[in-house]
Amino acid sequence: MRKNSGQKVIIDSFDLAAGRKMAGKYEVLSLLGSGWEGEVYKIREIRTGIERAAKLFFPQRNIGNKTAKSYAQKLHKLRQVPILIKYHTEEILLIRKFPITVLISEYVEGDLLSEFLKKFPGQRLHPYQALHLLYALTCGIEEIHLLNETHGDLHTDNIIINRFGLEFDVKLLDLFHGPYPKKETRQTDILELIRIFYDTLGGAKRYSKLPVTVKQICCGLKRSLILDRFRTISHLREHLESLDWSSDTF
Ligand SMILES: Nc1ncnc2c1ncn2[C@@H]1O[C@H](COP(=O)(O)OP(=O)(O)O)[C@@H](O)[C@H]1O
Ligand SMILES: [Mg+2]
Repeated sequence: MRKNSGQKVIIDSFDLAAGRKMAGKYEVLSLLGSGWEGEVYKIREIRTGIERAAKLFFPQRNIGNKTAKSYAQKLHKLRQVPILIKYHTEEILLIRKFPITVLISEYVEGDLLSEFLKKFPGQRLHPYQALHLLYALTCGIEEIHLLNETHGDLHTDNIIINRFGLEFDVKLLDLFHGPYPKKETRQTDILELIRIFYDTLGGAKRYSKLPVTVKQICCGLKRSLILDRFRTISHLREHLESLDWSSDTF
């Protein structure tokens, strides 16, 4: 823990040990991951034995509890959307005598997309698999957009692959709570989604060898082309549902 010149408390790691009790109700099991806003631990609710995830916010990223509050409110508003993790409750934890906000949510089993890709030769998916993943993400994000909300921070460390077969069961974490207009953030979601698709296919190294059907979606990652072709996420979903690959080889 440090204090900067304005005496603002800065914490960049909590280092909670396994077995530590939280708020008298939970027990820490392990660290799941960390990012810009905080650290996330797998915890167990002591009375029920149920596993959950606890996101501890770094105080400097959660001034006035704004970040945690808006994340919780957004998850609550979107609680019917299956692609999003479920919010449970908020707790305050004293760490090194400093109050830290903890957001308790559903624990999601599976691999982050970034880790999942490492299991495949060349760290990339077959175009057909990548299309299935893109379709699952598109349908999930479409539900968010139809409720007049956005994700705003889609990347391979905010996507958990829960199960996959022909269908992908995916979960999204970490909604962005910024000041940007909704229309712009909806466009960002579409652009980031297509960027993820492009990356799962092997990125720039593989692009020239990809089937035309796939290139028509990636549009060479040209922002204006993508937004022109897919004016809304629903356009992208409809496009995927009626793909014509009769002249393509996969
Ligand atoms: N509900 C959850 N279930 C399982 N793992 C999670 C969960 N929430 C977060 N994680 C893990 O913790 C990491 C950081 O969480 P995230 O909410 O993305 O924090 P940040 O805003 O700091 O990036 C994620 O990349 C993921 O590995
Ligand atoms: Mg994150």
